[in-house]
Amino acid sequence: MRRPSIALAIAALIAGAALAEENHLARGAELLAPFKRELQAALREGLAEGPSRAIGACRLRAPQIAESLSRDGVRVGRTSHRLRNPANASPEWVRPILDAYLADSDDRASRVAQLNEGRAGYVEPIATKQLCLVCHGESLAPDLAQQIRELYPEDRAVGFREGELRGVFWVEFPQGDATP
Ligand code: HEC
Repeated sequence: MRRPSIALAIAALIAGAALAEENHLARGAELLAPFKRELQAALREGLAEGPSRAIGACRLRAPQIAESLSRDGVRVGRTSHRLRNPANASPEWVRPILDAYLADSDDRASRVAQLNEGRAGYVEPIATKQLCLVCHGESLAPDLAQQIRELYPEDRAVGFREGELRGVFWVEFPQGDATP
């Protein structure tokens, strides 16, 4: 009777881990949704007034939005392998996931990670869309390029092509938070 019960226990553990992963995927996506929505709205509103104004919107609004959604043990952010703002540097646990996406351009599935202190992490890749090329593409309008250089002297976030990985969205949350 020992063997089957061990096998059962292992099966239950595997099933439990799979369920936790599913929960974390769902919870992570849910927590990121308002961040993505509000960033996109800020960008579109800014762009409606011209790319110069949109830069202001990205610069001021993006950190505010991230901050306003980072509460109750939840932290959201976005990062990249080629940063515009060094303040968006990747949390340590996100880096290997970002590297995995870079290593395999066909892999665009969301990922979860187990973090310390009962916390979970969730990461989603960000593809470069046509709209993004105005400020992250291969040829920027000269005045825009100049404005970006002044604001972000260490900018590495130009030269992207449509469809290329621009970076990732990430979120950290308490694991108990994962059950819907
Ligand atoms: C109007 C210009 C503009 C457009 C268009 C734009 N961005 Fe950005 N982007 C910026 C600026 C400015 C920052 C730096 C914001 C900050 O200071 O946090 C930034 C930062 C980022 C970051 C954070 C990482 C980093 O490099 O600092 C990501 C990811 C990003 N943009 C993705 C995109 C994507 C995807 C699109 C298209 C949907 C897009 N951007 C469109 C100007 C723009």
